[in-house]
Amino acid sequence: MLAPVARFLAMTTFQEKLNEQIAYEFGASQQYIAIAVHYDAQTLPQLAAHFYRQSVEERNHAMMMVQYLLDSGDDATTPAVAAPQTVFADDVEPVALALDQEKRVTAQISQLAVIARENGDLVAEQFMHWFLQEQREEISSMSALLQVVERLRDNVMLVEDYLARESGGAANPLEVGAPPAAGGAL
Ligand SMILES: [Fe+2]
Ligand SMILES: [Fe+2]
Repeated sequence: MLAPVARFLAMTTFQEKLNEQIAYEFGASQQYIAIAVHYDAQTLPQLAAHFYRQSVEERNHAMMMVQYLLDSGDDATTPAVAAPQTVFADDVEPVALALDQEKRVTAQISQLAVIARENGDLVAEQFMHWFLQEQREEISSMSALLQVVERLRDNVMLVEDYLARESGGAANPLEVGAPPAAGGAL
């Protein structure tokens, strides 16, 4: 059991880190808009729609974290967001960048879960579990998309066909148990 002062400092760290993560989630959202625009400008509507949708999901992640801080009575700071990469060498690079981003976010989310556990803050730890599951799913789907765009790098219209087939299914089942988002999820 941590002494009260040490416990207070540790708790502060989780809330501070969660506020930082809000900026990273909005940053991811902006990056996905930039990727969607790259594809939309070339009239690749399936790739564009895929990344516009991913952008909204990242925005929702940020707003779930805002709602958590509101619910727990902690300060939620609306952050500045790092500028996204907007110029890409080809049609593979954006997906590779997206996968790198998801791997980085997975490490950040894992660290938040570890801090919550070390604090003995089980409510915070449980909050992070949904995000861990979400990261596992996003790494898996982005890795699959990278394989497809690398294989079809000389015929990106076949990537469009692939996405048209694959995205016809039901909504992501993980969204069912998603934490509430401030202002409502989009
Ligand atoms: Fe996210
Ligand atoms: Fe993500």
